[in-house]
Amino acid sequence: MKGIVLAGGKGSRLYPITVSTSKQLLPIYDKPLIYYPLSILLLARIKEILIISTPDDIDQYKKLLKDGSHLGITIEYAVQEKPRGLADAFIIGEKFIGKDNVCLILGDNVFYGQYLSGTLKEAANIQEGALIFGYPVKNPKEFGVVQFDEKYNVISIEEKPEKPKSEYAVPGIYFYDNDVVEIAKNVEPSARGEIEITAINNEYLKRGKLSCLPLGRGMAWIDTGSPEGLLQASNFVSTIQSMQGFYISAIEEIAWRKGFISDNQLYEIGYLLRQTEYGKYLMSLIEDKI
Ligand code: G1P
Repeated sequence: MKGIVLAGGKGSRLYPITVSTSKQLLPIYDKPLIYYPLSILLLARIKEILIISTPDDIDQYKKLLKDGSHLGITIEYAVQEKPRGLADAFIIGEKFIGKDNVCLILGDNVFYGQYLSGTLKEAANIQEGALIFGYPVKNPKEFGVVQFDEKYNVISIEEKPEKPKSEYAVPGIYFYDNDVVEIAKNVEPSARGEIEITAINNEYLKRGKLSCLPLGRGMAWIDTGSPEGLLQASNFVSTIQSMQGFYISAIEEIAWRKGFISDNQLYEIGYLLRQTEYGKYLMSLIEDKI
């Protein structure tokens, strides 16, 4: 399974913060926003990753994440010339995806919760069809909305409906078989002029190959689309980290725990950042072991 992080878009809902920088590089407490979705791919043990961003911003991501070898993974980069919609990721990523299945995660989605790792590993094992998630929210109108029957079979999925048929939003993480590339190429642009991920999910639904897992309220999915959301996400991360002593979405720690990098490699990364709490934390993971 390959992984794509889509970190494009203008971030216009966050102007003036994002006039001169990419939204997914903004800080969520002590790390850039993109660390959070990236950590989700690592937890799913996805080690071949493509980051898609705008022509203006792509070099910033290369500077931050390099070729991924320090995390024991490979990271490639591609440019999305215009924000044509989420489904465009599969067209831009066609060569990268090759014959594999693929997981798409949106660069501004923050997830945290118990059993997340296990759920992700299972999801990454899908052989056929599509797997998406449903998460209850107060404002479903602002998202893709999924409606289930009593056995959690999907009945409908609609993009930002005026009258939502359920309170379950579709968060920005999607697992697909290889058919997604052909499906994406045939999607017609929506009224807002974008090729929507919801159109792809509807095609899988039509083919009887769409599964949706409801996420319980023990899981946190945090929207970072507004200044308020950014602050809430930062406060959330800071609160959990200071109470538990464990860091959320420290990608180097996850790479180490998954066995992608050695004790020495992790310690070296921590040492380079030793003036920060983040660096001290990474070093402490090794020091505590000795
Ligand atoms: C996109 C999708 C929507 C999904 C949301 C999750 O919305 O179109 O279906 O629920 O991401 O973050 P957008 O952020 O493009 O408005």
